[in-house]
Amino acid sequence: MKKFILFTYLTIFYSAVIVNAQARKEIVIATKNVSVILTIGANNRVYQSYLGKRFVNQDDDRLIPGGKHEAYITGGMEDLLQPAIRLTHSDGNPSLELQYVSHDAKNLDDNVSETNILLQDPKYPVQVILHYQAFNKEDIIKSWTEIRNNEKGEITLDDYASSMLHFEAKDYWLTQFHGDWASEMKMQESKLTSGVKEIDSKLGTRADMYQTPVFFLALNKPADETTGELIAGTLAWTGNFKFHFEIDERNALRVISGINPYASAYKLKKGETFITPAFIFTYSTTGKGEASRNLHKWARNYGVLDGNKPRLTLLNNWEATHVNFDEKELVNLFDDATKLGTDLFLLDDGWFGNKYPRNNDKAGLGDWQENKSKLPNGIGYLVKQAEAKGLKFGIWLEPEMVNPKSELYEQHPDWILKLSNRNENYQRNQLVLDLTNPKVADYVYHVVVDMLVKNPGLAYIKWDCNRSMTNAWSPYLKDRQSALYVDYTLSLYKILDRIRQKYPHLPIMLCSGGGGRTDYGALKYFTEFWPSDDTDPLERLYIQWGYSNFFPALTISSHVTSWGKQSIKFRTDVAMMDKLGYDIKVSKMTDEEVKFSKQAVKNYNRLNNTIWFGDLYRIVSPYEENRMVVMYVNEEKSKAVLFNYNLNTRYKEVLNRVRLQGLDSHKQYKVEETNLVPGTKSNLAENGHVFSGDYLMTMGLNLTPGKLIPLTSMVIEISAAN
Ligand code: DGJ
Repeated sequence: MKKFILFTYLTIFYSAVIVNAQARKEIVIATKNVSVILTIGANNRVYQSYLGKRFVNQDDDRLIPGGKHEAYITGGMEDLLQPAIRLTHSDGNPSLELQYVSHDAKNLDDNVSETNILLQDPKYPVQVILHYQAFNKEDIIKSWTEIRNNEKGEITLDDYASSMLHFEAKDYWLTQFHGDWASEMKMQESKLTSGVKEIDSKLGTRADMYQTPVFFLALNKPADETTGELIAGTLAWTGNFKFHFEIDERNALRVISGINPYASAYKLKKGETFITPAFIFTYSTTGKGEASRNLHKWARNYGVLDGNKPRLTLLNNWEATHVNFDEKELVNLFDDATKLGTDLFLLDDGWFGNKYPRNNDKAGLGDWQENKSKLPNGIGYLVKQAEAKGLKFGIWLEPEMVNPKSELYEQHPDWILKLSNRNENYQRNQLVLDLTNPKVADYVYHVVVDMLVKNPGLAYIKWDCNRSMTNAWSPYLKDRQSALYVDYTLSLYKILDRIRQKYPHLPIMLCSGGGGRTDYGALKYFTEFWPSDDTDPLERLYIQWGYSNFFPALTISSHVTSWGKQSIKFRTDVAMMDKLGYDIKVSKMTDEEVKFSKQAVKNYNRLNNTIWFGDLYRIVSPYEENRMVVMYVNEEKSKAVLFNYNLNTRYKEVLNRVRLQGLDSHKQYKVEETNLVPGTKSNLAENGHVFSGDYLMTMGLNLTPGKLIPLTSMVIEISAAN
């Protein structure tokens, strides 16, 4: 019976190949300005014929010659370089051929269209669907792949990329973003040479600690902020990822993006389907700035939870107290938050554990009960006290982790990832829970949800994850260990899905020992992320510059702290560039500093609409000059905010006038320096005057009037006067 169904199915399937292949030659995936054109060859394979600027005249799409590069190259056939997909069939055959069967394209709404291309191996009932979503006004294409095993037995996926793209340019310039704890997102650009370059992660959890899953690829020559042809790409995946760049013998480049297949051969039983994460990319002919703005718009509309809604300003207690606090001290800190005027108080690490109190990072993780001596009246009491002072209250959790010194570890030693015949390997004295085990996943879900049910006033969560996977072995997966890295991340998403079903809009910060998790796979569940534990504003400028290339300002949490020794104004101006918050002992601040900060929060509340939802123009890079200048312009071009930071500027260093960007040439704008220290006056010659957008974008402003002082800054509000 089963055989019959399969036979009938294949017959229908093969006739579809013939009919459709004859009827249609090219498949166009297009946004407002970008198009990808795929063509079907005489051999029934699908080729990428074009990726670039959309033609003014769409009839020109048909003139594109058939492609040379197969859109999703398979392993084990005639191509000799890295394939997008490689699998082993149930009979042991390690080859795959994918032929076009059919495709459909539909509009999901008036902005998003989806194209799905069904491919099948002519010899084996393995199907692959290439999915493309085109976001018209954001110029973003999201692509992913679905792999179906209709064979009688199990197949093994050895490589299973989300996307493969081909380029034929003279030269290729890759910009990658790498770092470490407290030095995330260092930007590095290099020319690709013949052969292979890979950017990847094998860290499992905290996967982005060394490399972030984002890149720019400029074609022919390096791109800058306003010129150059490039794509910007990112993988929406919170686990191991890999970008593979390979230049072949004819100088063509293939870019393969997806889950890192390292130690991750994935088995699919009969009837099972694997869906890869999405690769999200944009293409720009006007430099990196445009690419970033496309990504920001897409992220706010589609990629980040509540990306078009306001964020809460908060006071966090991590840098102020670490784990050393008690109820009384916290309640006093609430007064600090009200002094500053923030919306919320965020209680960080250290509030839990009784048998093994969390008095340092050696104990307590996993035991999510309030520590009775620190918080005798529980979280509920703190929520009420905060509310009485007009504040919301949020809490820190690290639900995927466990300290060996914990009751959770004692009760469930089999819930932990570790090789039983090796010594336990600790990072920050902790181990990773085995999320592939449904019981553990349920436990993690309940850690979060039970806390929210018990304390309905809780208004915010910071979800931390402070270590990578080493010694990675799942007691639950037994002989399916190579599924660990993938299934862990899929399980994390299922937990987050369940939490979001119950709490669809609760703001949650994504944190991973600083910026160890910053990707659009996670961000659809989170409202913001913690980019780095390094809050020294000078360092932060480089870090925030880095993240701004791929993530919108309202997702990048930036706190004023005491880490840097710069003035409160400089520290605040740096934090105001993104999502402002505080993590500071207000009692240690001078009256003047408190007065300035209170006013700064008010200023931020006035400007935040433009910062969060406006278009970002990165005008002067800290990598190129001894200063950094960025500005945000709202959609109507009626309001802009410019941030200017002098770095370690030198005596008599020459810094030229700065041309503004993004304004309306025909509008008149009033230029006003804001966020000044009380009692000081602006040095800006243009302060208080009105200029046309054209003048400001042509003549610009002298942003370093008077004496050049290192580590000083300026915030300028630019408002349309007509
Ligand atoms: C790492 C985070 O990045 C910090 O902000 C803080 O929450 C600590 N973890 C707490 O352990």
